[in-house]
Amino acid sequence: MAEFQLPPNSRIKPGKHFKAPQGAANVRTFSIYRYDPDSGENPRLDTYEVDMDSCGPMVLDVLIKIKNEIDPTLTFRRSCREGICGSCAMNIAGGNTLACTQATEDLKGEVKIYPLPHMPVVKDLVPDLTNFYAQYASIKPWLQTRTPAPSDSERLQSKDDQEKINSPSACILCACCSTSCPSYWWNSDRYLGPAALLAAYRWLVDSRDEATGERLDELEDPFRLYRCHTIMNCTNACPKDLNPAQAIAETKKMLAARSH
Ligand code: SF4
Ligand code: SF4
Ligand code: FES
Repeated sequence: MAEFQLPPNSRIKPGKHFKAPQGAANVRTFSIYRYDPDSGENPRLDTYEVDMDSCGPMVLDVLIKIKNEIDPTLTFRRSCREGICGSCAMNIAGGNTLACTQATEDLKGEVKIYPLPHMPVVKDLVPDLTNFYAQYASIKPWLQTRTPAPSDSERLQSKDDQEKINSPSACILCACCSTSCPSYWWNSDRYLGPAALLAAYRWLVDSRDEATGERLDELEDPFRLYRCHTIMNCTNACPKDLNPAQAIAETKKMLAARSH
């Protein structure tokens, strides 16, 4: 597999400017990061003037319109356009969020769009998430049991216990949180980051899981967990209103409790 590098952001140059069609009355301007590592050229910011009277309301609608009608070379990921798949996460007007749930009318002036920060770039708005997914896999995101399942039923859970995993289970692995975390920017090779740690917590508090001790052993590491300095960027960035910072704090408490 190709190895993607962190792009040379310090050398972003102004790029092409695509003017709005004549007669367009409701024009918004979007400056979008363009980078093709294979070209050997510096990243650039291309500017697109878009007629909003013939465009849907979300930033993803703008990107699709640009790709279909103005510049087919623009590259981005998307799938569900419902805030469910997590693939359209990017940095929009300075914040990490989902392009499909970000309304353009809530953004002021010229809108700048970059890929998720501090990640290697495959092309344009597409980050390389290989390490992010490997970290998710490393927390073993599946039920681990040591006792046989009941012969006459599934492994049941009380309503209260189920509610403990409701919120962390709603993570869509968009990476908005991890890529807004300064600790993750500088140590993503060793620090798991808020998304993987929220997933780890989801299994730690699952009443049916029987590997809690091993899971905590894996996390008890100066880098994997303890690089979180409770800066809270992660929780502020989450487009699903989840709270990875709290999950990390609860995990630290679980580790502290077992050492007494
Ligand atoms: S609370 Fe922890 S995980 Fe969240 S942004 Fe801060 S350092 Fe990163
Ligand atoms: S916790 Fe929120 S921001 Fe982080 S990966 Fe999950 S859904 Fe995305
Ligand atoms: S396209 Fe699936 S979350 Fe945006």
